[in-house]
Amino acid sequence: MSEPRGRFITFEGGEGSGKSTQVKRLAERLRLRGIDVIETREPGGSPGAEAMRKILLSGAAKALGPETEAMLFAAARGDHVDELIRPALERGTWVVCDRFHDSTRIYQGVLGKVDPKLINALERVTVGDLRPDLTIELDIPVEIGLARIEARGEQLDRFEAEDLEYHDWLRIAYRTLVEHEPNRCVLVDATPSQDAVAVRIWMVVAERLLRNQPAVAASGATG
Ligand code: TYD
Repeated sequence: MSEPRGRFITFEGGEGSGKSTQVKRLAERLRLRGIDVIETREPGGSPGAEAMRKILLSGAAKALGPETEAMLFAAARGDHVDELIRPALERGTWVVCDRFHDSTRIYQGVLGKVDPKLINALERVTVGDLRPDLTIELDIPVEIGLARIEARGEQLDRFEAEDLEYHDWLRIAYRTLVEHEPNRCVLVDATPSQDAVAVRIWMVVAERLLRNQPAVAASGATG
């Protein structure tokens, strides 16, 4: 695919940074602007990938090691891209996705110390030349993120249950990624209220992707 007509926005970040809420809010805001948009997530987003999600987040694959986990996340991504993301972009629909290949790069590559050659090869095979037009990295101090997760009162998944040091490194790795790819990635402070974070994200999207693009159906929308 040379030039996707729809725009592809991904959200990344550590645990408890509020990605799923902000994915939803951004998609709603884009729809108000008259843009056709789907919200999706990884691991998952297609029936095959959702089945793999259960295995990955239950921790059943942890004993197999980070390399195998990386391959499983990639397998799920390949299905998600083929079944949902690429067809949507090709018909002009925007896609807002909660996590994408950067998660494999950070969780399995940096934290799991999987060889970058394997991580890059998996990217080539599963997503080809498809890259997000914009990646929002929601940044939050580890203690605040983990406290938010605990407040949900749900059982922790395989990655949430890692220790504090793991989450500290995760945050550093994401911040480093943003520094290395400033054209694609934007760091957004996720500490303020959901409303304030949503406004900041909207400003970034408007500036980077909507400049020079007229509103299609502005049903009471601003911006
Ligand atoms: P999820 O319940 O979607 O949590 P979050 O709100 O943090 O996104 O769980 C996804 C978990 O899987 C998350 O801890 C990150 C991890 N993950 C990887 O390790 N590698 C990957 O490639 C992806 C997509 C996710």
